Amino acid sequence: MDFLSSLELTGRMIRDVFSLADSLKGERRAKPLAGKSVALFFEEPSTRTRVSFEVAVAQLGGTPIYIDARTSQRSRGEELSDTARVLGSYCDFIVVRMNDHDGLETIAKSAPVPVINALTHLEHPTQALADCYTLRERKGSVKGLKVAFVGDIAQNTANSLMVTAAKLGASVSLVGPCGSRPNPVYVREARRHASVTVTESMEKGLDGADALYTDTFVSMGDEAEAARRRRLFMPYQLDRKALSYAKRDAVVMHPLPAHRGEEISADVIDGPHSIVWEQALNKLTIERALLAYLSKRAH
Ligand code: CP
Repeated sequence: MDFLSSLELTGRMIRDVFSLADSLKGERRAKPLAGKSVALFFEEPSTRTRVSFEVAVAQLGGTPIYIDARTSQRSRGEELSDTARVLGSYCDFIVVRMNDHDGLETIAKSAPVPVINALTHLEHPTQALADCYTLRERKGSVKGLKVAFVGDIAQNTANSLMVTAAKLGASVSLVGPCGSRPNPVYVREARRHASVTVTESMEKGLDGADALYTDTFVSMGDEAEAARRRRLFMPYQLDRKALSYAKRDAVVMHPLPAHRGEEISADVIDGPHSIVWEQALNKLTIERALLAYLSKRAH
């Protein structure tokens, strides 16, 4: 049982993972991965996702094994399917970070064990689970909230967040310039579950929001057009003025790494509305729960 996309999630699965997260939070005796190994195959840089997955596996009694493209035979052109087949014969799970979503699907097809998406250019589904779990902790429930994503609404975190939050009953507002339109596949799926609006107006899109979410203006793979993207998105910085449109008790979210003075102002990310450190910590909480959930179903 793979976890490649937020599109595959059901409300039931999200609730089950959240319940497991509740019961495993602070619990260190449960060892559902005892005797198991988890390969972390990362072709892109990571701080939080890599370390939180390594810690999650170790805390659940398993052995994490990190390999990257630079120091593995991928650097010399080994086929992804061959790498996946071999890793899957040694390990019980493969956690993958790579830009190319098709590459992730190739790994999932070739590996005989569950594969988890730790970010592709299309999605960051474990991040969205951690984000919605954090919102649930803060607000009691995600249902009925207005979640606004501001900035580059065409990127992976926006895709996964809109679908996951909508499946939990939140209305979603996507706020960005006309040069950045959301992916229609994710909007269509999110609209099957809740209202999704798309606007260029900060005032309209953030009005009455319970959560304001942003992410980098220059995603991995977009470096060549960094200057153009910064110019395009700068009017959509999550700053004090943007925050003033939202509810008084709105929370500010960001998956990190943050670029203060670009997608978010320093006073907002470091201010009282920010819950970014809770989000970061809950990556570990959710990854532990997800691994325990998948382990129960796979073995
Ligand atoms: N949020 C997130 O995915 O962080 P890293 O890129 O550091 O893993």
